[in-house]
Amino acid sequence: MPTVNTPLITIAIDGYSSSGKSSMARQLAKNIGYRYIDSGAMYRAVTLYAMRHGMISDGQAIDIPALIAALPSIKIDFSVDGDSQSTLLNGENVERDIRSMEVSNCVSPIATIPEVRHALVAMQQKFGQEKGIVMDGRDIGTTVFPHAEMKVFVTASPETRARRRVDELNGKGVEASYEEVLANVITRDRIDETREESPLRRADDARLLDNSTMSISEQNEWLLNLYRTVTSGI
Ligand code: CDP
Repeated sequence: MPTVNTPLITIAIDGYSSSGKSSMARQLAKNIGYRYIDSGAMYRAVTLYAMRHGMISDGQAIDIPALIAALPSIKIDFSVDGDSQSTLLNGENVERDIRSMEVSNCVSPIATIPEVRHALVAMQQKFGQEKGIVMDGRDIGTTVFPHAEMKVFVTASPETRARRRVDELNGKGVEASYEEVLANVITRDRIDETREESPLRRADDARLLDNSTMSISEQNEWLLNLYRTVTSGI
């Protein structure tokens, strides 16, 4: 928990898909009493909205004008229940639906649309205006909070990330094969890195964490130590 003497800061955790950044960001927020925001869940919620409203056809073609027109009526929030956090789309708990492979396959093209990004970045900046926040995503340290006091960029090999994601999905009762997930991870990395609007890249002042060979407790400890170092130097 933060003490009166510890300054509140903004923590940006970016990185490749399925690199484990969400779990480590959530755990750090819990350890230090900060709010945690999963920005990827917001892109997933917009994608689910577009799918439900017939804005994505089978070949994944997106009705971009219709989606842009609908953006003001898309409200995203989070509810916290003990240790678990759920994503709310216009008040409905969509946490399970946004993790489906259907959404995973459509989310990165949706996240290339500048108007979608502008709307979500504005919401994210509002969530973080009081500081005391850990946010994870792709552009948090570069675009959403370029002045964040602590920035981390997480990576691991595509095979490691795919294996972890399959275990996570299967653990939640969502069926997914290793081959399907690996292909999705590689495709999303490519779209995220090459899009024009705030592409996935490491901020110059972000610390790099390759957690390919780290256990969950090792990476959590690494992050907590970095937080202590950063806040003790302020
Ligand atoms: O599920 P995973 O951790 O791999 O990804 P996520 O954090 O749920 O994000 C899903 C997708 O949203 C990413 O592949 C990106 O295309 C997009 N995204 C983004 O463009 N910018 C962010 N700040 C967060 C996610």
